[in-house]
Amino acid sequence: MSELMQGLKRSCMCGEVNENMIGNEVTLMGWVGRRRVLSHLTFLLLRDRTGIVQAVIDESGAESDIVEKEKSIRSEYVVAVRGIVQARDEENINPAMKTGKVEISVTELRILSEADTIPFPIEESVNVNTELRLKYRYLDLRRPNVASNIITRHKVSQIVRQFLTEEGFLEIETPMLTKSTPEGARDYLVPSRVHPGNFYALPQSPQLFKQLLMVSGFDKYFQIAKCFRDEDLRADRQPEFTQIDMELSFIDVDDVIDVNERLIKKIFKEIKNIDIQTPFIRMPYKEAMERFGSDKPDVRFSMELKNITEIVKGSDFKVFQDAIDGGGSVRAINAKGCGSFPRKKIDALVDVAKTYGAKGLAWINVLDNGVKTTISKFFDDEKLNEIVKALDGESGDLILICADKDTIVFDALGALRLDIAKKLEILDNNDFKFLWVTEFPLFEYSEEENRFVAKHHPFTSPMDEDIDILESNPGEARAKAYDMVLNGCELGGGSIRIYRRDVQKIMFKALGFSEEEAQKRFGFLLDAFKFGAPPHGGLAFGLDRIIMLLTGAESIRDVIAFPKVKDASCLLTEAPNIVDKTQLDELAIDIKNVGKEEN
Ligand code: AMO
Ligand code: AMP
Repeated sequence: MSELMQGLKRSCMCGEVNENMIGNEVTLMGWVGRRRVLSHLTFLLLRDRTGIVQAVIDESGAESDIVEKEKSIRSEYVVAVRGIVQARDEENINPAMKTGKVEISVTELRILSEADTIPFPIEESVNVNTELRLKYRYLDLRRPNVASNIITRHKVSQIVRQFLTEEGFLEIETPMLTKSTPEGARDYLVPSRVHPGNFYALPQSPQLFKQLLMVSGFDKYFQIAKCFRDEDLRADRQPEFTQIDMELSFIDVDDVIDVNERLIKKIFKEIKNIDIQTPFIRMPYKEAMERFGSDKPDVRFSMELKNITEIVKGSDFKVFQDAIDGGGSVRAINAKGCGSFPRKKIDALVDVAKTYGAKGLAWINVLDNGVKTTISKFFDDEKLNEIVKALDGESGDLILICADKDTIVFDALGALRLDIAKKLEILDNNDFKFLWVTEFPLFEYSEEENRFVAKHHPFTSPMDEDIDILESNPGEARAKAYDMVLNGCELGGGSIRIYRRDVQKIMFKALGFSEEEAQKRFGFLLDAFKFGAPPHGGLAFGLDRIIMLLTGAESIRDVIAFPKVKDASCLLTEAPNIVDKTQLDELAIDIKNVGKEEN
């Protein structure tokens, strides 16, 4: 122990000091926040990760060395304070502070460490530019609100470990240096020195290993696992993130759903003291798309999509008719009470639809005595009224209509629904609406590859009743896959896996994989399945997303200690970065000219 600490032992944390300790001596350690001088009194706000407490030095009474030291203290100096807990005078009570009824009358003060001028004040409410915050993330983490997210994260991990352990799950680690898994995103690769020209992939998820663990007989596995995906970042996506990953044997969909509903219920009870109602509703994918235009519907509000294809078909409006003739549809939403939106605001809605691929958006403004609309040239009053009626339109409503391929119509209207709800400020972050989206399509058609690809992954089991159509009508085949959705965010997802070799063969055939290709990509798993594979399935939650929703954070960045920014770089360490030529030589790697000047 350093000399400065000699004879000092912290007796409690700053945030723990309370009225029951009045008259007691305490020893606290932490960082000095604000320092205020009021005639002969100096007030120091002392902070650690649990909170802030006020320390008072009375110059008239204190020993001279305390006064001298106190004068040299600057923001963010690390100090030790010994003193007596005393009640604050009535008029000095600060109800905004957890420790606001008490203060420490200082009898000993030691400066343990000095600090340079900090780049931004360590306060909850200061508005600091994100880049600066992340460059000095270790200081940002001193801010109580940011620290509190990290603490919540720890608590959730503990609840998960305890709950799953009690349920009979075993926590087992799987490799970070591995072979790429068929999860769909781009891999982060790690070159091998020992095998020049060969690469490991960092896991996108522990998927294949957890299935192997089922073959091994560890019939309930979990792991709080780091995953890596080289994909475009958004508010709810980071290149490295954490899954609560699990797999179970001898189970079916209901078992996975049941254990995970109970887990989420427990987390919300313990962290937020909220009783989440279970079971959650289960909504087939198709219904989610048709009603909400999304496979992760926010069901806190309605504004549901309505299919008006039948009403508008056969008109002279080429835009609608072309969409219908091309196998698409015409659908609409009713933005209740938005009839008063000025033109500019409506144009902004059209732009939102366009970013999702819509070619345009028609609208009907429902008035007291009729309608005002962009499609009056093509539809008579009777038809327009029919549309309004289909959408339960009332005076003051704005009906937005999109015609295109179904996928585009769903995306555009689904996004508009959310955009309008945000604009109307009708979303309550303390209203937690969970649901399961089930019966996902097994395949999706890749225009790029000109073939069906697995929507989840190639080991996802088809629904029993759809096995027969895998080859004849793959587009309609549904999977035993499920996502847990909360307020428009996909918290987690999983599936029951294929463990029967005959089904797996049909699946690969439908995916257009030859036997050799399948063997090359997933040979080790296929081989394992030859030696007694139990029926199994599982799920993985995004831990970061759960914490984001629990804490009300706007981005998962705010719940990760050291997150990356949009271009996947770390502003603190400046990763990724160039490496020494000798390192590259060892790895037998030559860097192509990447368009940057050499320095
Ligand atoms: P999936 O790919 O759906 O499934 O991932 C599971 C959950 O992980 C979270 N997630 C992410 N969180 C932050 N940043 C990202 N880039 C990111 N990508 C995914 C989401 C998502 O729901 N192996 C399967 C699970 C299984 O089948 O058991 C899997 O990884 O919350
Ligand atoms: P236009 O014939 O392009 O002048 O369009 C007439 C109206 O139809 C305008 O309000 C357009 O925004 C709207 N519109 C254009 N494309 C679509 C579409 N794909 N779906 C719905 N409305 C559209």
